[in-house]
Amino acid sequence: MIDTMTVTKAGGALCGALLIFLLANWGAESLYTTGGGGHGEEAAQAYTIATDEGAGEAAAAEEGPSFEEVFASADAAAGEKVFGKCKACHKVDGTNGTGPHLDGVVNRAVGGVDGFGYSATLAEHGGAWTPDALNQFLENPKGYAPGTKMSFAGLPKVEDRANLVAYLQGLGG
Ligand code: HEC
Repeated sequence: MIDTMTVTKAGGALCGALLIFLLANWGAESLYTTGGGGHGEEAAQAYTIATDEGAGEAAAAEEGPSFEEVFASADAAAGEKVFGKCKACHKVDGTNGTGPHLDGVVNRAVGGVDGFGYSATLAEHGGAWTPDALNQFLENPKGYAPGTKMSFAGLPKVEDRANLVAYLQGLGG
Protein backbone atom coordinates (compact mmCIF):
# COMPACT_ATOMS: atom_id res chain seq x y z
CA MET A 1 0.00 0.00 0.00
CA ILE A 2 1.35 3.42 -0.95
CA ASP A 3 1.44 5.74 1.99
CA THR A 4 0.41 9.37 1.81
CA MET A 5 3.95 10.56 2.27
CA THR A 6 5.16 8.86 -0.92
CA VAL A 7 2.29 10.28 -2.93
CA THR A 8 2.96 13.73 -1.60
CA LYS A 9 6.70 13.46 -2.39
CA ALA A 10 6.07 12.11 -5.87
CA GLY A 11 3.50 14.81 -6.53
CA GLY A 12 5.85 17.45 -5.21
CA ALA A 13 8.69 16.21 -7.37
CA LEU A 14 6.45 16.21 -10.41
CA CYS A 15 5.20 19.74 -9.71
CA GLY A 16 8.76 20.89 -9.16
CA ALA A 17 9.89 19.39 -12.44
CA LEU A 18 6.96 20.95 -14.23
CA LEU A 19 7.69 24.32 -12.68
CA ILE A 20 11.33 24.16 -13.68
CA PHE A 21 10.33 23.13 -17.17
CA LEU A 22 7.87 26.02 -17.44
CA LEU A 23 10.36 28.50 -16.03
CA ALA A 24 13.09 27.32 -18.35
CA ASN A 25 10.72 27.53 -21.26
CA TRP A 26 9.56 31.02 -20.32
CA GLY A 27 13.15 32.12 -19.73
CA ALA A 28 14.25 30.85 -23.10
CA GLU A 29 11.30 32.49 -24.77
CA SER A 30 11.81 35.91 -23.20
CA LEU A 31 15.52 35.69 -23.88
CA TYR A 32 14.78 34.87 -27.46
CA THR A 33 12.24 37.68 -27.80
CA THR A 34 14.27 40.48 -26.22
CA GLY A 35 17.42 39.16 -27.88
CA GLY A 36 15.71 39.15 -31.26
CA GLY A 37 14.18 42.60 -30.77
CA GLY A 38 17.44 44.01 -29.55
CA HIS A 39 19.30 42.79 -32.56
CA GLY A 40 16.67 44.23 -34.84
CA GLU A 41 16.92 47.61 -33.13
CA GLU A 42 20.67 47.54 -33.18
CA ALA A 43 20.66 46.72 -36.83
CA ALA A 44 18.15 49.49 -37.59
CA GLN A 45 20.12 52.00 -35.56
CA ALA A 46 23.41 51.09 -37.14
CA TYR A 47 21.77 51.51 -40.51
CA THR A 48 20.36 54.94 -39.59
CA ILE A 49 23.70 56.18 -38.30
CA ALA A 50 25.46 54.94 -41.38
CA THR A 51 22.93 56.74 -43.60
CA ASP A 52 23.15 59.93 -41.57
CA GLU A 53 26.88 59.98 -41.86
CA GLY A 54 26.59 59.49 -45.56
CA ALA A 55 24.03 62.26 -45.92
CA GLY A 56 25.79 64.65 -43.55
CA GLU A 57 22.88 67.05 -43.56
CA ALA A 58 20.53 64.70 -41.73
CA ALA A 59 23.11 64.13 -38.99
CA ALA A 60 23.64 67.87 -38.67
CA ALA A 61 19.89 68.40 -38.42
CA GLU A 62 19.70 65.98 -35.51
CA GLU A 63 22.84 66.84 -33.62
CA GLY A 64 23.59 70.37 -34.73
CA PRO A 65 22.29 73.58 -33.20
CA SER A 66 18.54 74.00 -32.85
CA PHE A 67 16.48 76.18 -35.17
CA GLU A 68 16.12 78.78 -32.40
CA GLU A 69 19.89 79.03 -32.03
CA VAL A 70 20.51 79.40 -35.74
CA PHE A 71 17.53 81.74 -36.18
CA ALA A 72 18.89 84.06 -33.47
CA SER A 73 21.80 84.94 -35.76
CA ALA A 74 20.13 84.28 -39.10
CA ASP A 75 21.19 86.11 -42.26
CA ALA A 76 18.23 87.59 -44.14
CA ALA A 77 20.37 88.40 -47.20
CA ALA A 78 21.33 84.72 -47.46
CA GLY A 79 17.64 83.92 -46.95
CA GLU A 80 16.74 86.01 -50.00
CA LYS A 81 18.92 83.69 -52.09
CA VAL A 82 17.21 80.63 -50.60
CA PHE A 83 13.89 82.22 -51.54
CA GLY A 84 14.94 81.67 -55.15
CA LYS A 85 13.66 78.12 -54.65
CA CYS A 86 10.19 79.45 -53.81
CA LYS A 87 9.88 82.17 -56.46
CA ALA A 88 8.40 79.90 -59.10
CA CYS A 89 5.25 79.67 -56.99
CA HIS A 90 5.35 82.45 -54.41
CA LYS A 91 5.45 86.22 -54.79
CA VAL A 92 6.13 88.79 -52.11
CA ASP A 93 4.21 91.74 -53.62
CA GLY A 94 0.80 90.89 -52.21
CA THR A 95 -0.36 88.90 -55.23
CA ASN A 96 -0.82 85.16 -55.38
CA GLY A 97 0.84 82.80 -57.82
CA THR A 98 0.66 79.03 -57.71
CA GLY A 99 1.03 79.57 -53.98
CA PRO A 100 -0.25 82.37 -51.74
CA HIS A 101 1.82 85.57 -51.46
CA LEU A 102 4.41 85.32 -48.71
CA ASP A 103 4.94 88.95 -47.74
CA GLY A 104 3.76 89.14 -44.15
CA VAL A 105 3.54 85.36 -43.82
CA VAL A 106 5.46 85.30 -40.53
CA ASN A 107 2.85 85.13 -37.76
CA ARG A 108 0.04 85.26 -40.37
CA ALA A 109 -2.82 82.79 -39.88
CA VAL A 110 -2.18 79.45 -41.59
CA GLY A 111 -4.29 79.38 -44.74
CA GLY A 112 -5.06 83.05 -44.14
CA VAL A 113 -4.89 84.68 -47.58
CA ASP A 114 -8.42 85.55 -48.71
CA GLY A 115 -9.23 84.29 -52.15
CA PHE A 116 -6.42 81.74 -52.35
CA GLY A 117 -7.67 78.19 -52.90
CA TYR A 118 -5.91 76.32 -50.12
CA SER A 119 -5.94 72.57 -49.68
CA ALA A 120 -8.25 71.35 -46.90
CA THR A 121 -5.13 70.57 -44.88
CA LEU A 122 -4.00 74.19 -44.68
CA ALA A 123 -7.51 75.68 -44.72
CA GLU A 124 -8.42 73.65 -41.62
CA HIS A 125 -5.02 73.69 -39.96
CA GLY A 126 -5.54 76.65 -37.64
CA GLY A 127 -2.79 78.51 -35.78
CA ALA A 128 -0.28 80.93 -37.22
CA TRP A 129 2.97 80.70 -39.16
CA THR A 130 5.32 81.32 -36.27
CA PRO A 131 9.02 81.05 -37.15
CA ASP A 132 9.00 77.62 -35.51
CA ALA A 133 5.95 76.43 -37.50
CA LEU A 134 7.55 77.69 -40.72
CA ASN A 135 10.75 75.87 -39.79
CA GLN A 136 8.88 72.59 -39.43
CA PHE A 137 6.74 73.09 -42.54
CA LEU A 138 9.71 74.05 -44.72
CA GLU A 139 11.83 71.14 -43.56
CA ASN A 140 9.22 68.69 -44.80
CA PRO A 141 6.01 70.27 -46.18
CA LYS A 142 4.20 66.99 -46.79
CA GLY A 143 5.27 65.61 -43.42
CA TYR A 144 4.08 68.68 -41.52
CA ALA A 145 0.90 69.20 -43.53
CA PRO A 146 -0.09 65.87 -45.14
CA GLY A 147 -2.22 66.55 -48.20
CA THR A 148 -0.78 70.01 -48.88
CA LYS A 149 -0.85 71.19 -52.49
CA MET A 150 2.65 72.62 -52.13
CA SER A 151 4.90 70.48 -54.30
CA PHE A 152 8.18 71.23 -52.63
CA ALA A 153 10.52 68.61 -51.21
CA GLY A 154 11.72 70.74 -48.30
CA LEU A 155 14.87 72.47 -47.12
CA PRO A 156 17.05 69.96 -45.23
CA LYS A 157 19.53 72.57 -43.90
CA VAL A 158 18.51 74.36 -40.71
CA GLU A 159 20.63 77.37 -41.78
CA ASP A 160 18.65 77.70 -45.01
CA ARG A 161 15.35 77.58 -43.12
CA ALA A 162 16.48 80.07 -40.47
CA ASN A 163 17.87 82.52 -43.06
CA LEU A 164 14.74 82.21 -45.19
CA VAL A 165 12.39 82.83 -42.27
CA ALA A 166 14.51 85.86 -41.28
CA TYR A 167 14.15 87.16 -44.85
CA LEU A 168 10.37 86.60 -44.85
CA GLN A 169 10.07 88.27 -41.46
CA GLY A 170 11.97 91.29 -42.75
CA LEU A 171 9.44 91.72 -45.58
CA GLY A 172 6.73 92.59 -43.11
CA GLY A 173 3.17 92.64 -44.29
C1 HEC B 1 5.82 74.23 -56.84
C2 HEC B 1 5.24 75.38 -56.22
C3 HEC B 1 5.73 75.77 -54.83
C4 HEC B 1 7.03 75.94 -54.39
C5 HEC B 1 8.31 75.71 -55.15
C6 HEC B 1 6.92 76.41 -53.04
N1 HEC B 1 5.61 76.51 -52.66
FE1 HEC B 1 4.90 77.15 -50.86
N2 HEC B 1 3.02 76.77 -51.46
C7 HEC B 1 2.64 76.32 -52.69
C8 HEC B 1 1.22 76.07 -52.72
C9 HEC B 1 0.41 75.56 -53.90
C10 HEC B 1 0.76 76.38 -51.42
C11 HEC B 1 -0.65 76.19 -50.89
C12 HEC B 1 -0.61 74.84 -50.21
C13 HEC B 1 -1.93 74.29 -49.75
O1 HEC B 1 -2.95 74.98 -49.85
O2 HEC B 1 -1.88 73.15 -49.26
C14 HEC B 1 1.91 76.82 -50.66
C15 HEC B 1 1.85 77.23 -49.34
C16 HEC B 1 2.91 77.77 -48.64
C17 HEC B 1 2.83 78.32 -47.32
C18 HEC B 1 1.57 78.46 -46.47
C19 HEC B 1 1.06 79.88 -46.67
C20 HEC B 1 -0.27 80.20 -46.02
O3 HEC B 1 -0.80 81.28 -46.33
O4 HEC B 1 -0.75 79.40 -45.19
C21 HEC B 1 4.09 78.75 -46.99
C22 HEC B 1 4.52 79.41 -45.69
C23 HEC B 1 4.94 78.43 -48.11
N3 HEC B 1 4.21 77.83 -49.08
C24 HEC B 1 6.28 78.70 -48.15
C25 HEC B 1 7.13 78.31 -49.19
C26 HEC B 1 8.54 78.57 -49.21
C27 HEC B 1 9.28 79.36 -48.16
C28 HEC B 1 9.04 77.98 -50.33
C29 HEC B 1 10.48 77.90 -50.78
C30 HEC B 1 11.40 77.29 -49.89
C31 HEC B 1 7.91 77.39 -51.04
N4 HEC B 1 6.78 77.61 -50.31
C32 HEC B 1 8.01 76.72 -52.25
C33 HEC B 1 3.48 76.12 -53.77
C34 HEC B 1 4.86 76.13 -53.73
